[in-house]
Order: sequence, then C-alpha cells, then structure tokens
Amino acid sequence: MSPAVVSAHLETYNYRVVRQFAVMSIVWGLVGMLVGVIIAAQLTWPALNFDIAWLTYGRLRPLHTNAVIFAFGGCALMGTSYYVVQRTCQTRLFSSALAAFTFWGWQLVILAAAISLPLGYTQGKEYAELEWPIDILITLVWVSYAVVFFGTIMRRKIPHIYVANWFYGAFILAVAVLHVVNSAVIPVSALKSYSVYAGVQDAMIQWWYGHNAVGFFLTAGFLGMVYYFIPKQAERPVYSYRLSVVHFWALVFTYMWAGPHHLHYTALPDWVQSIGMVFSLILLAPSWGGMINGIMTLSGAWHKLRTDPILKFLVVSLSFYGMSTFEGPMMSIKTVNALSHYTDWTIGHVHSGALGWVGMISIGSLYYLIPRLYGRTAMYSSRLIETHFWIATIGIVLYVASMWIAGVMQGLEWRATNVDGTLTYSFVDTVKHTFPYYVIRLGGGLLFLTGMVLMMYNVVLTIRAGRSEDAPIPALAAHA
Ligand code: HEM
Ligand code: HEM
Repeated sequence: MSPAVVSAHLETYNYRVVRQFAVMSIVWGLVGMLVGVIIAAQLTWPALNFDIAWLTYGRLRPLHTNAVIFAFGGCALMGTSYYVVQRTCQTRLFSSALAAFTFWGWQLVILAAAISLPLGYTQGKEYAELEWPIDILITLVWVSYAVVFFGTIMRRKIPHIYVANWFYGAFILAVAVLHVVNSAVIPVSALKSYSVYAGVQDAMIQWWYGHNAVGFFLTAGFLGMVYYFIPKQAERPVYSYRLSVVHFWALVFTYMWAGPHHLHYTALPDWVQSIGMVFSLILLAPSWGGMINGIMTLSGAWHKLRTDPILKFLVVSLSFYGMSTFEGPMMSIKTVNALSHYTDWTIGHVHSGALGWVGMISIGSLYYLIPRLYGRTAMYSSRLIETHFWIATIGIVLYVASMWIAGVMQGLEWRATNVDGTLTYSFVDTVKHTFPYYVIRLGGGLLFLTGMVLMMYNVVLTIRAGRSEDAPIPALAAHA
C-alpha cells in the first residue's frame, strides 16, 4: 500500500506542527547566534555599534539571549515535545487547532521581541525583558501548549507515561508558574510597567525565576530530549529507568531553592544566600545522575560513536551538561563566587551550558527528527553532520576556555593590591588584558555559527528531496 493509501485509512500523528517548530528552531538559531557573534565583536571593537541606538550592545544583548533561549531553544523544545508525546502515547495531539495556535502565537512573541528589544522597550529583568502586552500573549500560548501536551497524555493508548514526558511536563508547568509570578507588573502605559515587587524582594523573585529558567527551560525539557532521542539513536534502552525517576524528583525539588546563588554578597539576608549555596551543591547529585544515566545508555553501543555523528552530538552534549553542572555548584560557593561574579567566568559557564549542552542536544535531536518528518531514511549528507560536529565542538572549546582564562584573570587582577594597599591594576588594564580572549571567543562563536549554516544547508537539501509526511499511528499499542 502506498503511504497515501495508508494515511487515508489510518489516523496519523500530527507531524505538521513538529515540522514547523523544527525548521523555525534552526532559523531562529541562526539569527540568535548571528546576534551573539555581533555582540561578541562589539565587546572586542565597541565602534561596531556605528552609533546607531538600536544596534548598541545594551539592546542587542537581550535580543541575543531571548532569540537563542526562547526562539531557538523554545521551538526545539515545543517541536520535540509534540513529537515525543505523540510517539510515546501512540495517539494524535490533543487538538491540532490549538497546537497550530501555539506555533503561530510563539512566532508572534518572537517577532514582538525582535522589534521591541532593539527599540529599547524592556522591563529590565534578565530573561524576562519583554513588556507586559507580550507577557500576556506568552501566557496565552503557554496555557494552550500545556492543554495540548497534557491533553495528549490524557488520551494516551499506553498506560505508562514514559519518563521523557515527565521532564517535558515539569518544564511546561514550572515555566508557567515562573512566568506568571515574575511578570506581575503594574502597567503605566502600553509599553511601560513597574514590577509589583520592590527592592530585595524583587531581586529574589527575579533570580528565583532566573535560576529556574535555567533549571526548567534550559535543563528539564532538554533532559526530555535525552531520554527519548539517545535511546532511539543508540538503539539501546535507557540504562536505568529507576535512576531516571529518582533523578527527576530530586532535580525538580532541588532547583527551586538554588536561585539565591545569583545574589551572593547583596542585600539579600545572608542565611538566604547560604540556602541557595547549599541547594546548589546538592544539585550536583541529580544533575550527574541524569548525565550518567544518559551516557551509560550507550553501554554495548559505544562502537556506534565512531560512525554515527548524530550520536556524537547527543553524547558530547551530556559531557558538557556534566561539566557545567559541576562548575555551577562550585561557583555557588560564596568564596568562589567572590572571584567569579562580574567576570567572564560566568559567561564561560553559561556557554558551556548553552552551546555545549542545550545547543548540542537540540542539534542532535533535530538531525534525528528532520528525515523522519520528511519521509526520508537519513539526512542528505552524513559527512556534513560530521563536519558540523567538529566545527561546533572546536568552537565551544575556544569560546569556553577563553572565557574561563579571561574570567579568572579579571577576578585576580581586580583584587590584587600593592604593599601600600593601592590597587595593582586599573580597570582599563584588565580590559586591555582581556582583548585577546575576546578575539578568541569571537572566533569560537563564528565557528559555531558556521556549523549552523552547514546544518541549514543539509536540512534544506533533505527537505527538498523528501516530502511532508505524517506517520500512521499503529492500530495496536507497540513501542514507539
Ligand atoms: C554563536 C554562538 C554564540 C555567541 C557568539 C554568543 C555570544 C554571547 C555574548 C558575546 C554574550 C554577552 C557576554 C557578556 O555580557 O559579556 C552572550 C550572552 C549570553 N548568551 Fe550567548 N552566544 C552564543 C550562543 C548562545 C546560545 C546558543 C545560548 C543559549 C542557548 C546563549 C545564551 C546566552 C546567555 C544566557 C547569555 C547571558 C549570560 C549572562 O548574563 O551571564 N548564547 N552570548
Ligand atoms: C547544578 C547546576 C548549576 C548550578 C548550581 C549553577 C550555578 C550557577 C552560578 C553560581 C552562577 C553564577 C551566578 C553569579 O555569580 O551571578 C550561574 C550562572 C549562570 N548559569 Fe549556572 N549553574 C548550573 C547549571 C547551569 C546550566 C546547565 C546552564 C545552562 C544551560 C546554566 C546557565 C547559567 C546562566 C545563564 C547563568 C548566568 C545568569 C546571569 O547572571 O545572567 N547553569 N550558575
């Protein structure tokens, strides 16, 4: 029977919305990383803002963070979660119309961000910059997303809820709560508002939000990808299902309390800072539980790493996850934070998580997905994936290593004193010393961006050779 006849007879999965999110994730990834490269160049040569207000660093930086986290990461998360929840529940998405609304609504949010941020409209809260009308649209889209996701789980044909869905589900619920609480404002005009919280409470709510944005937006959802795409690509079962459940509950419980490590040595009461530090240290355990579970899933399939570039992306992402979740708890120790805070060490930590973990796991998962969404057995070119892998990995190493060295150097120079108590280095000295590292970081970023361009080329050729095809849902429950 031809695929057309099969789909005429059988109910199919809704791959349309998955295709849309998957493709847009790559498009926004390119845009967001291009802006990342531009601001990296501006930090090296500040004149590159050409004295145009909307090209200044202060406006492009939030554009970069919003584009890579919410547009690139968000589209990857929404697309993969829609795919995984359908496949593991063996049922079609709860509502195709609502799913379409989440796609178009999310693109509208991104567009509104891309216009309003360069124009200078901001709530001034990191990762929550968008003004209140856009926040309302985000809430509407997010609630619809939750309805589609949990609605699909409700009508599952398989009694068990596969662990990847637990991670995606926690991500959706936590982000809803974080967004609503942190975005509570009093609007004074169509594009200006003030937070309902004041002073140190405002700071605490913001970093409760900020850290859990890391924990749930940049981690939990991507762990959902780990638990679906790694076993699939390695053709091995999850190493320990029990460990996946234990580390799920430990992770979601612990993340909630770690936020104060962003406010060390501030007006936040000291005991609250210490709680943040202790919970950050505890967080090492569930994080590594997840990493080890993911890596050990390759037991008996290690040889595949030699020939399978998609698996390389997926496994290297876990190594970076392990590295950044070791580094994070160390940086949360107050005495270490006294050195690292305000320096480029933080930026190195961020990008070992963002490029190494979030970037690599998303790219690997998208390479797995694209051929399947377009009726192909494989991507157009496996060699291009291999090249992408090496360019991206070298790019991350250059980015992260240069920022680590620059960061530690800055921290040490700022605290260095002469015997008479005066400062050994002026601030300008440190800025000058940082210059070569900024050039290396720019090179690393350019490499990572080049890898994304190769990916786009490979994806376009795969899509051109294939056609949009929705797989039929098996009549009898089977493993997805
Ligand atoms: C080509 C790739 C990229 C380049 C060149 C790049 C570059 C930059 C630069 C120059 C900054 C500002 C650093 C500073 O303020 O000193 C920055 C900040 C940031 N980037 Fe990227 N970036 C890239 C990819 C990504 C990706 C993929 C993500 C997330 C998934 C990401 C997340 C962030 C975050 C969260 C910050 C703010 C860090 C903080 O406030 O501590 N970046 N990036
Ligand atoms: C066990 C897990 C982790 C812990 C305990 C942790 C801890 C920390 C600490 C202590 C800081 C520095 C705060 C400061 O001095 O201002 C920080 C910054 C940051 N971390 Fe992590 N981290 C963890 C994992 C991750 C991962 C996996 C990512 C990314 C995917 C990430 C993204 C960030 C970002 C974006 C910032 C900068 C926030 C800002 O100031 O804008 N972290 N983290």
